[in-house]
Amino acid sequence: MKVFVNTPEKIAEMAAQRYVKLLNEKPTAILGHATGSTPLGLYAELAKLNAEGKMSYAKCTSFNLDEYVGLDGTHDQSYRYFMNENLFKHIDIRLDHTFVPSGLDTSAETAAAYDKAIEAAGGIDIQLLGIGNNGHIGFNEPGTPFGSLTHMVELTESTRQANARFFESIDEVPTHAVTMGIKTVMNAKSIILMAIGKSKAPIIKETIQGPVTEAVPASVLQLHPDVEIYLDYEAASLL
Ligand code: GLP
Repeated sequence: MKVFVNTPEKIAEMAAQRYVKLLNEKPTAILGHATGSTPLGLYAELAKLNAEGKMSYAKCTSFNLDEYVGLDGTHDQSYRYFMNENLFKHIDIRLDHTFVPSGLDTSAETAAAYDKAIEAAGGIDIQLLGIGNNGHIGFNEPGTPFGSLTHMVELTESTRQANARFFESIDEVPTHAVTMGIKTVMNAKSIILMAIGKSKAPIIKETIQGPVTEAVPASVLQLHPDVEIYLDYEAASLL
């Protein structure tokens, strides 16, 4: 794993350059996108670079990591809505080339079809990840088997609490989500994980320096051949 440490602004710029390089080398790239507050700086930077003509998303395809169960794409807390508002609207990607797991159809067949669609597209070139305070990637909570593919999960209480700030009350936070599995993520050719802020420092230390264990889902990244981790000084403070 390669670890880069800088200010939040600088790590967004550095990570964005990976996308400029990839999209210029491979305009048909398959991109795995993530939600959360962490990638917002990166997404703003990507939109800026795209507007400046540094790269184009016109031939790209995007697959998102996860979606809340029960929210459709028009709900302002759905991850589909988040992606449209924070990235897709601001870049030249075709909306019909962007995929987010369905929060309404949670059948095993539909989950399996998501993995199949990724495979049929040629596999993900860069998978972007944030990290939960408990080490979750996507919505793969501690204990998720490393062999998992796209599936429905029950969210832990700590994850619901952490995400409650975006909803009117904790009762409105969905109890379940559909997420790419750990294996889906590990199948990506390259992975970029970003973390910002002091609250992420303990889990970043475990992820990078702790044992590889299903108790810390992100620790699996130690086994991937091409992972770049972008941290601000606070998230890196315990390394
Ligand atoms: C959610 C998402 C994750 C994300 C995490 C951290 O639970 N499912 O993909 O990494 O939140 O969010 P934030 O970046 O806001 O700290």
